Amino acid sequence: MHLRCYHSTVSRLGKFITFEGLDGTGKSTQLRKLAAALRAAGCKVVETREPGGTATGEKIRRILLDSRTEGLSPLAEMALMFASRAQHIAEVIQPALDRGHIVLCDRFTDSTEAYQGYGRHLGSANVLKLHEILCGGLQPDLTILLDFDPAMSLSRARRRNQSGLQRAKNSSKKNAASAHADENRFEQQNRSFFARVHQGYRAIATRESQRVIPIDASGTPAQTHRKIMEALEKRLKLVCR
Ligand code: TYD
Repeated sequence: MHLRCYHSTVSRLGKFITFEGLDGTGKSTQLRKLAAALRAAGCKVVETREPGGTATGEKIRRILLDSRTEGLSPLAEMALMFASRAQHIAEVIQPALDRGHIVLCDRFTDSTEAYQGYGRHLGSANVLKLHEILCGGLQPDLTILLDFDPAMSLSRARRRNQSGLQRAKNSSKKNAASAHADENRFEQQNRSFFARVHQGYRAIATRESQRVIPIDASGTPAQTHRKIMEALEKRLKLVCR
């Protein structure tokens, strides 16, 4: 497949594309595949993630995702998500967009609305208010929402994290253990939490149908990638041949 990249000739310098969805929907795989396709088409691409994406953000990520972090209040959790994001925008996202690059980000404020707003019952309005204050209202040009059965995606995420932990335990090297850090805190939430998160994503997709494209992620990674390429072709003037 050939793909021609026009982003440098259109509107606001770079393009900001985010990936969203429940844990285990294959976001990271799809982000990598899209990055490779865009690079092959000659685009400058920055791959990044939240929480994290900067040295400070990665420290915050460890606090947020480590299942040994006990008793974190929902408001503190939301504040840390935004602290990581504010740093990420200042240090990575905005400078890359200013240089005209395509930024592919694994999760952004929609995650906070779905997980903290809906999942933790903090409400959309509070999340959107903080987004305005702390992120200057920065909106992605496009959001790929990977949609997959909540129960199945969660069991996929749990299996992945368990095997990562097992590899770390079996390894005698200390730094290999830290490379497979315990990132299970959210996956330990119950079914109804993830049902609310799923509902949150649906509501965001309905409210912001211009920006958010739901993509059925139940097929193979190659099938899902093809759907994403088609969606991009339509929305961002990227031409696949
Ligand atoms: P991620 O590494 O994308 O997990 P996965 O690969 O399993 O999808 O995200 C880490 C977790 O952080 C995930 O469970 C969702 C949660 N999260 C929030 O609750 N709020 C947020 O704002 C963000 C960015 C992530």
